[in-house]
Amino acid sequence: MAWPCSCSGGLLLFLSVCLILVVDSTETKKPLIDAKVLNSKIQAKHVYKVGPEEDYKTVQAAIDAVPEGNSEWVVVHVRAGTYREQVVVPKNKGHIYLRGNGKGRTAIIYDGCSNDNSASATFTVEANNFVAFGITFKNNAERGLPNLPRNQSVAAKVSGDKVAFYHCGFYSPHNTLFDHKGRHFYESCYIQGNIDFIFGRGQSLFQSCEIFVLPDGRNDILGSITAHNRKSADDNSGFVFVNGKVYGVGEVYLGRANEAHSRVIFANMYFSKTISPAGWTNWSYSGDHKDLMIGEHDCHGPGADSKNRPEWARQFNKEEVEPLLSINFISGSEWLPAYY
Ligand SMILES: *[C@@H]1O[C@H](CO)[C@@H](O)[C@H](O)[C@H]1NC(C)=O
Ligand SMILES: *[C@@H]1O[C@H](CO)[C@@H](O)[C@H](O)[C@H]1NC(C)=O
Repeated sequence: MAWPCSCSGGLLLFLSVCLILVVDSTETKKPLIDAKVLNSKIQAKHVYKVGPEEDYKTVQAAIDAVPEGNSEWVVVHVRAGTYREQVVVPKNKGHIYLRGNGKGRTAIIYDGCSNDNSASATFTVEANNFVAFGITFKNNAERGLPNLPRNQSVAAKVSGDKVAFYHCGFYSPHNTLFDHKGRHFYESCYIQGNIDFIFGRGQSLFQSCEIFVLPDGRNDILGSITAHNRKSADDNSGFVFVNGKVYGVGEVYLGRANEAHSRVIFANMYFSKTISPAGWTNWSYSGDHKDLMIGEHDCHGPGADSKNRPEWARQFNKEEVEPLLSINFISGSEWLPAYY
């Protein structure tokens, strides 16, 4: 007679142990934003499938099929594989959720090489309201000759507002990510390059991203990870890197002074010794240094030693940078499908 009782008591105990484990693991590990989470948040009305056996053989063909002026979320699902093409999401095709099968499995690759960044880009998004998950964008152009550093080879150009990339990869030797303009969120992305490989005047938060530096023999000077073009004090743009890591082969600067109000902040990041002890450069910059907002906050690792940094690159205190370190910087709670 006591059996059912002790059973349910045991079950209860079991359940509460499970509950404690679940609560505990969500507190210590960051929640994973995967395709399932995004699917359930975005709730797209239609799926365009891309693959050798699908209705659309190329990514661009599926984008072209999305109606002009689209205002309800649709999925363009790109099956595992390599798609050799240049892709543009034009201004009038908003609310596209480009979903790959993982950044190691679905890739768009092109070898555009030009004096013009935009012309070289493998992938371009001009539309507002765009989300990508689990896909690699690669510019595979040859690195060019030592004295032709002007050959641009952009992997992705991001010009729309309210654009988010989750678990994506960006690869090129040089000028990898043209973060042109608009509010952007990069979460758990991998970005590889050597010279000015994250550049533009986007208003962008890079959360938990990995930045991998490649060696590059074309220049006598060191390359820079970032070159940000903020032009005035009331310009909201800036590149903010939080909780990620920078490592690789060869030596680079975190960024360079590029415009009088350039804004680049690395916070709570790990830096390997691939970061030059000087940290930052003003190569080719002759403007004023007083309005630059360039620097670090609470970074760690062998590349984070600040004693040889220039005086215009700051070690920010918490109060100075706190408003910039969360999704509030890009008003993310108003438009991001998922964040933490
Ligand atoms: C680089 O640019 C030059 C001049 O525009 C061009 O001739 C050359 O083919 C480009 N590509 C490489 C890989 O050097
Ligand atoms: C560039 O930075 C260095 C190191 O802080 C400084 O000595 C130099 O004056 C700066 N160059 C210009 C043109 O302001």
